[in-house]
Amino acid sequence: MPKGTYIFPEGFLWGTATAAHQVEGRNQNNTWYAWEQEEGRIINGHQSGLACDWWGGRWREDFDRAQAGGQNAHRLSIAWSRIQPEPDRWDEDALDRYREMLVGLRSRKMTPMVTLHHFSEPLWLAEMGGWENEAVIDAFEAFTRKAVEALMPYCNLWVTINEPNVFMLGAYIEGLFPPGKKDFNAALQVMQHMIRAHARAYKVIHELQPDARVGSSINYRGFRSASWLPWDRLAAKALHTLFNDLFPRTLKDGVFNTIRKKTSIPEAIGTQDFVGVNYYSTDMVRFSPFAAKDMYTKRFYPEDAALSESDFIANIPEGMIEAVKWAGGFGLPIIITENGVDDSKDSLRPRYILEHLHALWKIMNANLRVEGYFHWALVDNFEWERGWTQRFGLWGLDLETQARIRRPSVDLYAEICRTNGIASDTVEKYAPEVMETLFPG
Ligand code: GAL
Repeated sequence: MPKGTYIFPEGFLWGTATAAHQVEGRNQNNTWYAWEQEEGRIINGHQSGLACDWWGGRWREDFDRAQAGGQNAHRLSIAWSRIQPEPDRWDEDALDRYREMLVGLRSRKMTPMVTLHHFSEPLWLAEMGGWENEAVIDAFEAFTRKAVEALMPYCNLWVTINEPNVFMLGAYIEGLFPPGKKDFNAALQVMQHMIRAHARAYKVIHELQPDARVGSSINYRGFRSASWLPWDRLAAKALHTLFNDLFPRTLKDGVFNTIRKKTSIPEAIGTQDFVGVNYYSTDMVRFSPFAAKDMYTKRFYPEDAALSESDFIANIPEGMIEAVKWAGGFGLPIIITENGVDDSKDSLRPRYILEHLHALWKIMNANLRVEGYFHWALVDNFEWERGWTQRFGLWGLDLETQARIRRPSVDLYAEICRTNGIASDTVEKYAPEVMETLFPG
């Protein structure tokens, strides 16, 4: 077998990602907490509860683990509901807590990346109609101003909104996220408000911090036509346009294009400094005239793809190449802001990580500027409507005791971060089954 190392550029950011509601615990004043209290919303009635107890201070030990694992960056989110618990009240203690976390990262020589909105939001916002109400744009601007003013001494890398496309789908089309609507027109309205709120936030951040770098994180889903039939191909293309393209395309050219209608949002033009890409998997798509609620499509995984523990994710690393190529089309640097797999036994994860990073390395050689990779996630956390049924952490979490469980991927990822690349020895050690694919010969 040949030996060698696929080296990443100097200064590449190696990190993991987390989100406030998923790790903090005791987060009771937001839409997701309220959602968890409703029957039938979360699988098995699971609740976020203490989560990973970051609000109780366990971020310290997890940041220690990340640092010991060679990571030089971490992406976390801050909870709007904690910082602005009521429309006319800011909570300085909450801001202090976040300040401490960011200082904690800096002192561990890790670059912080902060997400301002990651799915959960204050109850008062939901009461006024959430993202359907245009007033959310002013509200988000005010929150951004307050949070960035407080945190900018420690952070200059910002994600305004995490996965506006997944939020639109989950909260307003599939009804799986609060407020649980199934209303396509409302979804498009929400998306427009998110674009306008993002644009405002972008401007506010740059006004406060001229050297800031601001982007969003889009969940890029691969959509492959299941056949050569024109209607299957059209269906795959329509999903790509509506799911992947809608948000970032509008930030590029100011045109909100829903295929049926184009709306101009000129203030959005040029409001990204990098494209954040969350890539997990790729679907096969078939046109289905009876599946109105699934946008007239049937989606499934290719038969030969290895599936994750809960069948939620198929291991399709070529999708990473496609995602980065697509992101490169916006003419901006790219950051992989999430990528990972649910796997409590760590049987697929090592291979998933290695194959996705190898795919990333390959496409970066086509002269695409990718500045970092954040694995989802540092530690198992509350997976939204799927509760605790999925385990995405490099580190496992014992919910009863709060003990962290070291999975082999902890050491695998540490070798990658420390080497700043993928060494054949690492592959041989953690996923020999992909040696032939990654180091053929
Ligand atoms: C993403 C989301 C994360 C995490 C991940 C794995 O869509 O941004 O918060 O839940 O999926 O399910």
